Amino acid sequence: MCGIVGYAGPVDGVDALGVVMEGLRRMEYRGYDSAGIVVQAQGALAARKKAGKLANLEELLSLDPLPLAVTAVGHTRWATHGGPTDENAHPHHSADGRLALVHNGIIENYAALRAQLVDEGASFTSETDTEIAAHLVARAYDEVGDLTEAMRLVANQLQGAFTLLALHADVPGTVVGARRNSPLVVGRGKGANFLGSDVAAFIEHTREAIELGQDQVVTITCDSIEVIDFAGAPATTRAYHVDWDARAAEKGGYPNFMAKEIDEQPRAVADTLLGRMDQRGHLALDELRIDASALRSIDKIVVIGCGTASYAGQVAKYAIEHWCRVPTEVELGSEFRYRDPVVTAKTLVVAISQSGETMDTLMAVRHAREQGAKVLAICNTHGSTIPREADAVLYTHAGPEVAVAATKSFLAQVAACYLLGLYLAQLRGNKFEDEVRAILAQLARVPDQIQQVLNSMEPVRALARQMADARVVLFLGRHVGFPVAMEGALKLKELAYIHAEGFAGGELKHGPIALIEPGLPVFVVVPSPRGRDSLHGKVISNIQEIRARGARTIVIAEEGDDAVRPYADTLIQVPRTPTLLAPLVTTVPLQVFAVELAMAKGHDVDQPRNLAKSVTVE
Ligand code: M6R
Repeated sequence: MCGIVGYAGPVDGVDALGVVMEGLRRMEYRGYDSAGIVVQAQGALAARKKAGKLANLEELLSLDPLPLAVTAVGHTRWATHGGPTDENAHPHHSADGRLALVHNGIIENYAALRAQLVDEGASFTSETDTEIAAHLVARAYDEVGDLTEAMRLVANQLQGAFTLLALHADVPGTVVGARRNSPLVVGRGKGANFLGSDVAAFIEHTREAIELGQDQVVTITCDSIEVIDFAGAPATTRAYHVDWDARAAEKGGYPNFMAKEIDEQPRAVADTLLGRMDQRGHLALDELRIDASALRSIDKIVVIGCGTASYAGQVAKYAIEHWCRVPTEVELGSEFRYRDPVVTAKTLVVAISQSGETMDTLMAVRHAREQGAKVLAICNTHGSTIPREADAVLYTHAGPEVAVAATKSFLAQVAACYLLGLYLAQLRGNKFEDEVRAILAQLARVPDQIQQVLNSMEPVRALARQMADARVVLFLGRHVGFPVAMEGALKLKELAYIHAEGFAGGELKHGPIALIEPGLPVFVVVPSPRGRDSLHGKVISNIQEIRARGARTIVIAEEGDDAVRPYADTLIQVPRTPTLLAPLVTTVPLQVFAVELAMAKGHDVDQPRNLAKSVTVE
């Protein structure tokens, strides 16, 4: 939540405004309630900020330009304290206007600090928690005469989650940042250095990044990067090379990022599966730094995630329990630590997160580790907090996901969960090597099958355009089709602002069937007829029950499943896959349906209302 960009360039270099505005364009997915920028020029600061999307700030800058500068800081906001107004937009200034500061996160003790500052005579122009930090850092600077030290002193006073970046009129060419529980990465350029909420902020200029640790203060100039911890000691950091370039974060001719990211799914899954076999043909997960003996002795797995990531976890539960016979629970990150979960040294906690920054998931990870559990992160973002704090990480290789709605990251997470399940099954002796290899071979075929689904989506798009006026849409599924149904409903809620719910087919008769009325559209994700027991037949019965009450059925079933035909008002066919792997293909039509319907309604698909890509507050 909130995107931050900082830049320190050489005195004869390019205008910092362009660099930071470009960074903000790439950060806008993190929040779009307001945007602002501050530059340091000729011994003073100059700032512009505006409520609404970045385009509003761009318009303001064209009417009221900023002076040329080589140092700047920018911010895109997802509002927490105070509404999305011009006054609450960042940057915020000190009383004398000589310091400006931007912030991502929530300062939990801000009310007490604000009251104290008011007692001491300060006045504020916004309702934000951020403005107190601007006052405090400026005061500390006046006392100690060093911006880095001032930032460090104030960071120690603050509680909660924060990334702060500050510029001071008296400290030319310098940006100082601090982070606790909120992301900040450094970009090491040639003759210029960068700060960003993630590497997309500066990817156009450099692919060399430095991961900052928890509770660190960083100071950049055009030719130096210095990092200390909150105690003031030099800090250890990790440098890494970003393995994607600026083109990966461009729309590339698509109407929006989401459409592009849906189309990138065959690659995202293929890349996530790539290079997982060792020379002996064993499944090998390099980033899995947990002792094999510890993994053999686990007696419970708890999968944690939020939103779409939690649905990937639900799919994982079916696969892991079936392949490994280890009891597996799925918990929402936001609920986990508050219910006093039974977690021991024999519990493996799997934390799934695209961004690696979701605060609810991060707090659950910390709680699990405090209880002695081993934590394995499944994550798409190198250098982010969750994999850094976990005992091990299995990276998904979906590439940057810019649209707020998760698509390719979901399929990549599901693929990574399969890898984990198979790895544990191999390690614990639940499956023979040839059995693991056979499933991996089936998995290897899935990217082509996703491509086949993508190639056949025109009727789904037409259906979505036809249904643009729908007010309620239901989704039914069973077994691994149940999380797919919930994911389909979530996509429609967040993009089209339509009331949508995903139900387990078996639960229909326990209540939800009362919602069915003539003409109500219901998507049904049908399991393979080759699957276990009579599940396929049971879902057909569910379809008959809702049709009998007038529902309009839109059925997703595998090719060759002729038994469903008579019950489908619309039939969407997907290639045959083994039952457990089906979510990788059955989810795709639901994503396409949601994006097309939202476009038909004229919504901003990449930046749906009230949401942000990375939810870094609890
Ligand atoms: O970055 P994360 O995977 O931890 O994000 C978790 C959820 O916030 C995220 O999946 C959210 O539900 C998506 N916007 C859904 O499309």
